[in-house]
Amino acid sequence: MTTLTTAPLAPLLERLFKEAASMSPATSPAVADLSAEERARLMRSRTDYHYYYGRLKDFPLAVSRETGLLLYMLARSCGVRNIVEFGTSFGISTLHLAAALRDNGGGRLITSEFEPSKVARARENLTAGGLIDLVEIREGDALKTLSVDLPERIDLVLLDGAKALYPEILNLVESRLRPGAFIVADDADKSPEYLARVRSPAGGYMSTPFAEDVELSMRLG
Ligand SMILES: C[S@@+](CC[C@H](N)C(=O)[O-])C[C@H]1O[C@@H](n2cnc3c(N)ncnc32)[C@H](O)[C@@H]1O
Repeated sequence: MTTLTTAPLAPLLERLFKEAASMSPATSPAVADLSAEERARLMRSRTDYHYYYGRLKDFPLAVSRETGLLLYMLARSCGVRNIVEFGTSFGISTLHLAAALRDNGGGRLITSEFEPSKVARARENLTAGGLIDLVEIREGDALKTLSVDLPERIDLVLLDGAKALYPEILNLVESRLRPGAFIVADDADKSPEYLARVRSPAGGYMSTPFAEDVELSMRLG
C-alpha cells in the first residue's frame, strides 16, 4: 500500500489526469492566434515567459502519468527528504512528490508558481490529497522565490517551469545538491543550454535522456 495508489490520492490523480488529457493547449483559443513558430519561440524565451504562461493559466500542462510515477519512485528509492520544484501549475507533479515524502516518513517540498489562480488550484488539490502539510507553495517568479531560504541539503529537484530558465534555476540550487541528488527536467529538449551543461563531462553530473522528453541527471560527489 502506498499513498500514491490509495484513496484519497489515487482517485484524485485519476480525475486530474483525465481533465488534463481533455484540455489540449494546442487547439485552444488561448494560443490559437499564435503560429507554431511563435509558440516555440515563446516557450524558449528568457523574457516573454510571463506572457506565454499567462495565456496558458487555465491549463494544467502536467507531466505525463509515466513521469509522475518516475518522480514518485525516484523520491521513494533514495529516501528523499528535501525537494525543490520549479513550476507547480495545478500541482499534479507536486502530488506525486509529496506522496513519496509521506511514504518516506516526512520531509519538505518547496514548489514555485507565478500564476495566482494556479497556486489556488494547487493548494486545493494538495489539500484534497491530504498532502498540503508537506508542501510550501512559493507564489511569484521562481528566480526570486527560490533564491532564498532553501534547505541546506536538497535531494531531488524537478524543473518544469519556463524552459529558458533551467540553467538559472540550477544555479540557485546547485551548491545545496547532495552527491547522488537527482534532477528531473521535463521538456528539457527545449533548453539546449541546460542539456549542454548537465551532459558536459566536466559539469559535475551524470545525465541521460529518459522517456520522451525528460532529462534525468544525478549530481556527482
Ligand atoms: C509545465 S507547467 C508545470 C506542470 C506541473 N509541474 C505538473 O506536472 O503538474 C509550468 C508552470 O510553471 C509556471 N512557471 C513558468 N515559469 C515560471 C517562473 N519563472 N516562476 C514561477 N512559475 C513559473 C507556469 O505558470 C506553469 O504553470
